[in-house]
This record gives sequence, C-alpha cells and structure tokens, in this order.
Amino acid sequence: MLPLLPSGPVFKLEFLCSNALDMAFNLLPLSPAEGNKMRFKKKTIIVTGGSSGIGFGISRKFAQEGARVAIIARNEKRGIEAVRELQSLGYECTFFKADITKESQVKATILLIVEQYGELHTLVNNAGCGLINSTIESASSISDRLKFYQGANFNSTYLVTAHCLPYLAKTSGSSVINISSTAAQHGNWGLYGVAKAGVEALTRSFAAEAAPLGVRVNCVSPGWIETSPEQAAKAQGAGSSEWTCPPSLLGRMGGPEEIAGAVCFFASSDASFITGQTLVVDGGMMITDYPSQSSLNMMENRGFSQAANKP
Ligand SMILES: NC(=O)c1ccc[n+]([C@@H]2O[C@H](COP(=O)([O-])OP(=O)(O)OC[C@H]3O[C@@H](n4cnc5c(N)ncnc54)[C@H](OP(=O)(O)O)[C@@H]3O)[C@@H](O)[C@H]2O)c1
Repeated sequence: MLPLLPSGPVFKLEFLCSNALDMAFNLLPLSPAEGNKMRFKKKTIIVTGGSSGIGFGISRKFAQEGARVAIIARNEKRGIEAVRELQSLGYECTFFKADITKESQVKATILLIVEQYGELHTLVNNAGCGLINSTIESASSISDRLKFYQGANFNSTYLVTAHCLPYLAKTSGSSVINISSTAAQHGNWGLYGVAKAGVEALTRSFAAEAAPLGVRVNCVSPGWIETSPEQAAKAQGAGSSEWTCPPSLLGRMGGPEEIAGAVCFFASSDASFITGQTLVVDGGMMITDYPSQSSLNMMENRGFSQAANKP
C-alpha cells in the first residue's frame, strides 16, 4: 500500500524514482522567499563575533541577501579585514569594536548602530568561546573558569539581547537568533556546555518575554563546524588527522554557510510562526549512537529496513 502523501506530480515523482530527490528539487516551485534571494534588503542585522568563523559566514549570507550588516567583536584588525572583504564584494557592512561581556560597551555600541542605520531587524548572538579557542589554562582558578565561559557565552547573549529588544520591538518581522552548541547536550564539555544550555534556556525565556513585542527568538545549535583547516586539525587533536569517530552521520564537518542557512531561515518570514525553538544543525551527530556502530555493522543492519529490502 502506498503511504499517504500530498497529491501532485512532484511528490509522485519523488516517491517513484529511486534517485528522485535531486529531480524533485529541480521541479519543486520556488517559494517566494527562495525565489527572491534578497530577503533582507536594507534590513539592519547585528552579528556578534561576525568577524571570523561561523559569524563571518552568517554575516556574508545576510549581506548577500541585501542586509546592512553590523559586526561586533573585540579584535579591530580582524574586524576591519572582515568588513573590507565583504565591502569588496559590494556588500554593506560596518565593524563595531566592543567587548560584549561588558554592559556599558554593549549599551553604547547598540545605540551607535541604531543611530547609524535608523532601525534594527535581526540580532544574531553568535559570539562565544569554547575549550579549543579558550584562554583558560589548566592552572586557571575555579572562579576564573566560571567567569570566562559564563561571560563569553551566556552573559553576552543576555546583555546584547536585552539592550536590542526595545529597538527590535519597533521593527515588524524582527527576531533574535542565538547560537548554542550540541555541547549543551553532552556532559563532557564542562562549563562551555553548561553556558550553552543556558543560551538555549535564554532563548525560551526571551521568546516568552518578546512575543508581546512582536519579536521572535530562536536558536541554532551547531555540531562540528569547520571554520579553518587549522581549527579542524585542533579539534581532532594535535598531530592527528583522523577522527576516532566521524564528526557527523554524514561523515564530515559542517561549514559556516550551513549554519548561516539555518540562521537566515529563522530570520526570514518563512519562520514567522516559529519562536522559542532550538534547531540542531550537526549532520545527524546527535541522533547517532557511535559506540554501538561497530557492533551494529556486525549485525548487518538487521535492525531496520535495508536487510529486508535486499533483492
Ligand atoms: N566551530 C564549531 O564547531 C562550533 C560548534 C558549536 C557551536 N559553536 C559556536 O558558534 C559560535 C562561533 O564559533 P566559531 O567556531 O566561529 O568561533 P570563532 O571563530 O572563535 O569566533 C568567535 C567570535 O566571537 C567573538 N567574540 C568572542 N568573545 C567576544 C567578546 N567578549 N566580545 C565580542 N566578541 C567576542 C570573536 O571576536 P574577537 O576575538 O575579535 O572578540 C570571534 O569573532 C560560538 O558561539 C561557538 O560557541 C561553534
């Protein structure tokens, strides 16, 4: 018996062809948002930590779609380089230097951005710091560790969101997108995971607070994302070029642009009825029980459909 599927030639084609996904994608009519690649034309978007890694990918994607991007970070040289790179592609982008763990700097910077652009449509709380880039050493004190991870990941998200909300509330279709981490679900990432779990909780609390203001608040939780070959090597452990298990079910790390795609979806009108949600973007890592993989392979996939479907 055929499964119940929405009627129409595209879905029938998808079901009947073994390799139909590519064909179906080609045939599917584009939604207005996909057809119009300038979803954020002249909208002001703040990306904290937008000068490198995932944040730079997010800044570039918004800028490609017509946004005016305000990047906030501490390192001026790197910030100016990032802005120059985007401007050389014809995009509108400005760098604002600030340490977003400090409320006075947050307040002044947000005011400056709104004065410059006249409005605020989207805030992306991307800045954060995990173990790999951390300045924390094994000799660092207990309270220094707490201050560092909480400040860089949790406090910064709270401070920037709280100071942006009054401006976001004045703009229709506005939203906040936080960046957490799949480390929030694992116990072995210490205070980084704890702080990111806090970011996910902040997402729900701010969603409830901001809904009456017409502002949506969502979160993207990345798995392993390759921000540079050096970063990938560090993540695998110094000197090692092999992962002990694959970084995702898809057998590769993700790219910043794959996080940017999810962030832009949340910021777009396609997500107009979505708030308070965290979307995991990890190539399936979180749904995989890696330790059991070799024993499952020995059982030749008897647990599910492939063995039964063998001709
Ligand atoms: N890469 C991954 O695999 C991965 C996985 C899961 C989650 N994440 C999360 O994704 C986000 C981006 O990570 P990434 O890998 O792209 O890291 P990254 O390249 O180190 O970028 C972090 C950015 O945050 C900025 N930043 C950090 N602390 C700041 C502060 N106090 N004030 C202002 N800016 C600050 C940094 O700029 P300055 O140093 O110039 O201030 C930098 O631009 C982080 O929240 C991270 O936790 C990453």
